[in-house]
Amino acid sequence: MLEGLLMKNIGCLVQTEDVPREMVCGKEMSELNTIEDGWLFIKDGLINDFGKMSVIRSGEIHFDTGGTEIIDATGRFVFPSFCDSHTHLVYAGSREIEYSDRIRGLSYAEIAKRGGGILNSAKMLHETSEDELFGQSISRINEIIGFGTGAVEIKSGYGLSLDDELKMLRVIRRIKNSSPLEVKATFLGAHAVPSEYKGKHEEYVDLIINEMIPVVSSEDLADYIDVFCDEGFFSVEDTERILMAGIKYGLTPKLHANELGFSGGIQVGVKYNALSVDHLECTGDAEIESLLRTDTMPTLLPGSAFFLGLPDPPVRKMIYAGLPVALASDYNPGSSPSGNMKLIMSLGCIRLKMLPEEVINAVTINSAYAMGLSETHGSIAKGKVANVFITKEIPSYEFMPYAFGSNLIETVILKGKIIN
Ligand code: NIG
Ligand code: FE
Repeated sequence: MLEGLLMKNIGCLVQTEDVPREMVCGKEMSELNTIEDGWLFIKDGLINDFGKMSVIRSGEIHFDTGGTEIIDATGRFVFPSFCDSHTHLVYAGSREIEYSDRIRGLSYAEIAKRGGGILNSAKMLHETSEDELFGQSISRINEIIGFGTGAVEIKSGYGLSLDDELKMLRVIRRIKNSSPLEVKATFLGAHAVPSEYKGKHEEYVDLIINEMIPVVSSEDLADYIDVFCDEGFFSVEDTERILMAGIKYGLTPKLHANELGFSGGIQVGVKYNALSVDHLECTGDAEIESLLRTDTMPTLLPGSAFFLGLPDPPVRKMIYAGLPVALASDYNPGSSPSGNMKLIMSLGCIRLKMLPEEVINAVTINSAYAMGLSETHGSIAKGKVANVFITKEIPSYEFMPYAFGSNLIETVILKGKIIN
């Protein structure tokens, strides 16, 4: 007897895979597998099987209704949960004052230079206890679960001292242990140079390398290492030193690159076999060429380009060249105060001119790759973790990014359990 959870009469099952892939590239990004009038069976927290309703109606497959919970999903779409491979959602307070300053005309870089921006968040984080930080962060976690996210990467980087970076990473670990989300942690000590190291940033890089990385690694607090490799923040040389130290301690690189300038961040990420290079507003032919035939996922963060009014990355060119593309929210208080991945899909379509099929691939299988999870997440495939959401009644999958302001998610299932 099969016990588990059966969804039947599903209007459309989206992003199904018979043969799981680790990512989709180039032209393939505009293809999306779907099953209309389908069913999905979940058992022991995993996707057990799925198919067309006709085999149930004909009696070819039989489910014992005694032990199986049944959801009738008539008219509804079932998607794999979003994978959000780039966030900074552990932070203290908020920065709407800078938002007003930017509306009045100051740029993100000017605000940072005056000691605002990331340093402002670092100050607030320093004054916030670990428990309070956890409380603030868990509300954001609950919010993104409702938005359909099933896996999230979270970075440190508002600590900028050994103790405060550890405080952030411990909060990320508590989230990992207490929430149904799949969580990956990234150490981003090199997010900004703290004010006490102004004029001696080399010494801060030394602190990251000699003190922070060894402790982060010995307490097993991070999966990845990140550097804000961009104009006014960390140079390619700083980045190389930090990545080499991180790799020595078992941390895989994932970089902030080419957001504010042609920083060389993309190339240095590729050189150190980064899992992803993220932002990429400043991407030219040389950067595209360097990414081809590599294992590095180009990841775009249209929420921050939209919020800061930055030029958009040349996504069409990247896809035509054959590259894969992932999209993530960058959820953070300074450049993207939203973790709504459905909105990110809309921005991908509207701003970046990506097709609905392309954005769906970019927020599921490709973003799963960008956080090291594409074997277990990011699609509806047998044996993958049962992280899915059921929509309200909608006419098509294109309707998801199209209806950019509507909440269309009705039921969230994580690790096989109905969450809300
Ligand atoms: O990814 N670009 C660097 N870091 C964040 C912004 C952080 C902040 O402003 O608080 C980002 O956009
Ligand atoms: Fe970021």
